Amino acid sequence: MSQAAAINRDKGFDVLDTRAQFPILIRTVHEKPLVYLDNAATTQKPQVVIDALTDYYTRINANIHRGVHTLSGEATDAAEGGREDVRRFLNARSTSEIIFTRGTTEAINLVAQTLVLDLLKPGDEVVITGLEHHSNIVPWQQACARSGAMLRVAPINDRGEVDPEAYQALLNARTRIVAISHVSNALGTVNPVAEMTRSAHAVGAKVLVDGAQATAHVPVDVQAIGCDFYALSGHKMFAPTGIGVLYGRETLLEQMSPWQGGGDMIKTVSFEHTEYNELPYKFEAGTPNIEGMIALGAAVRFLEGLDLEAAYAHEHALLAQVSAGLDDLPGLKVVGKAAHKTGVYSFTIEGAHSHDLGVLLDGMGIAIRTGHHCAMPVMSRYGLSGTARASFALYNTAEDAAAFIAGVRRAADMLV
Ligand code: ALA
Repeated sequence: MSQAAAINRDKGFDVLDTRAQFPILIRTVHEKPLVYLDNAATTQKPQVVIDALTDYYTRINANIHRGVHTLSGEATDAAEGGREDVRRFLNARSTSEIIFTRGTTEAINLVAQTLVLDLLKPGDEVVITGLEHHSNIVPWQQACARSGAMLRVAPINDRGEVDPEAYQALLNARTRIVAISHVSNALGTVNPVAEMTRSAHAVGAKVLVDGAQATAHVPVDVQAIGCDFYALSGHKMFAPTGIGVLYGRETLLEQMSPWQGGGDMIKTVSFEHTEYNELPYKFEAGTPNIEGMIALGAAVRFLEGLDLEAAYAHEHALLAQVSAGLDDLPGLKVVGKAAHKTGVYSFTIEGAHSHDLGVLLDGMGIAIRTGHHCAMPVMSRYGLSGTARASFALYNTAEDAAAFIAGVRRAADMLV
């Protein structure tokens, strides 16, 4: 268990106290109280994260790693403090393993594009699963097209779980990299990533875990998972958009070619030769998202202040409440019934278009996402063009769940 999950164990979780820290949650939409259930798309931000952004621009705005002046020193300390917060949260061994990116998508592209140069050759294989978001499909398709490697996909069963035997059967001596989601954005399935990593390592493959949907909903410990890379997005874990992280095993990052070139990723430059900077800066060309680094650190500390196990259990209780509350709705089909899943409720209602459901719910103040959720292959697996998806976060209440149940029933009455 990571330190983050362990710190407040048994402290208990007070949802109303937690909710009160998110100022947006008191607003109304169409004169109804906001019921925000689109947390898989992005989470809302607690006051401490908003304050961290304001404080940076109000007091210490300066470029980092460059200046001898006081503001630059303070900004550097605050931003590098964010890196240490993330290291602790993920239980990485060193801050050299924490590379700031724009988000999960950029982190995966960094690895995929660098490995094309360093590792992938014609005849090699890249394994992904049928659960992936487009951001963990397209970069690998591009890497395969450039290198001559082949993309192989481990299928999912009707419950929305990766078929363990089919996954195992795909792994072989040609497998160079396995790229798997920790949690599916479309269905909420939690993959057994530690076990999948062990199987991949047994054939000598490297493993990247897409953690975008995991970090706010399940414990994450990169050493316990054993993966080589772990990608996350700040905005899915109560931090701003435009900041994310690539965790990479230090020995691997040392061997990898830099990705983008520019300032900060170098030690010395002449027209004849460039000597690259040490980790993690070797992969951080240009002025980074300084306020994002600082605010992501604040989001991590916010999470560390909670009894996370109790918070995750609270999300599960909301999912159970919604599942029980809608179970008898005529024409309802729940898509994704994995044994281990987060608070994601993806569904269709026969005769009702998911887009229309979303619009009617919005009229009631309830925000959900509808469509293919940037996971078109998952939808195709079920013969669907899209679903309606409610996704819970730790600030959602039983009242939110009840409003959603009542709203879906009302919308179904209107549409079917
Ligand atoms: N990937 C985000 C979602 O699932 C945008 O909605």
